[in-house]
Amino acid sequence: MAWFLSNLRYVAWTALAVGALFLIYFAMGVAGYAFGDSVFWEALWRWTHVLVAIMWIGHLYYFNFTQIPNMAKIPDEQKPAIGKVIAPAALFWFRWGAMATLVTGLALAGNQGYLVQALTLGAMDDPSFAVPKHILIGIGMWLAIIMWFNVWFIIWPNQQKALNIANRYPDLDAAAKAAAGKTAMLFSRTNTFLSVPMLVAMTGASTLF
Ligand code: HEM
Repeated sequence: MAWFLSNLRYVAWTALAVGALFLIYFAMGVAGYAFGDSVFWEALWRWTHVLVAIMWIGHLYYFNFTQIPNMAKIPDEQKPAIGKVIAPAALFWFRWGAMATLVTGLALAGNQGYLVQALTLGAMDDPSFAVPKHILIGIGMWLAIIMWFNVWFIIWPNQQKALNIANRYPDLDAAAKAAAGKTAMLFSRTNTFLSVPMLVAMTGASTLF
């Protein structure tokens, strides 16, 4: 068993295959939906959406609750292990997790037929009867879209400067690097803040309405 568990690729792909079979068994075998049914796709998008959201927010929380608070305790000569190896690898899964979360989230809303109604916060519904679910999930989607924007257009470009990832900024001086790192940290902390109310909307939309 160790030969299997020691190989991350084997574990990740097998877990995905088992998850997919599990979904197909319950959606088609037990619940009786056909492959093309909208509910089948909703189940698939929901599963993949939460899966990739864990990848994104898991790394966000790693940065904010583990890496950043402990950097000061690491001796300077050991800091490159984090800055040159761990952080760039974490940033890869972090930013692509964010992208996949956005795509699957929009697909999930589109699949349920309320993408435009949610993004316009119920304004496209009958004015006398704005659907509360559209308002709530719309707020959550906009909070998460702001977070996605912060990742791709503020945190990632600034981290590339702060850590000189892929040697893109070899000539940046220490002050400019520190400023970029500070900006990335502040927006990362903003996302940590936004993630909490955002999740009320994500999880509450199907529970409350
Ligand atoms: C990036 C933009 C995002 C969009 C467009 C989006 C969109 C959606 C939509 C449309 C739903 C279905 C709500 C419903 O009808 O019940 C949903 C559910 C959910 N989302 Fe997101 N989402 C995004 C980001 C996130 C993030 C960052 C997380 C973080 C963990 C997340 C976690 C969840 C969870 C846990 C559910 C509930 C699934 C359920 O109740 O079955 N989403 N999202």
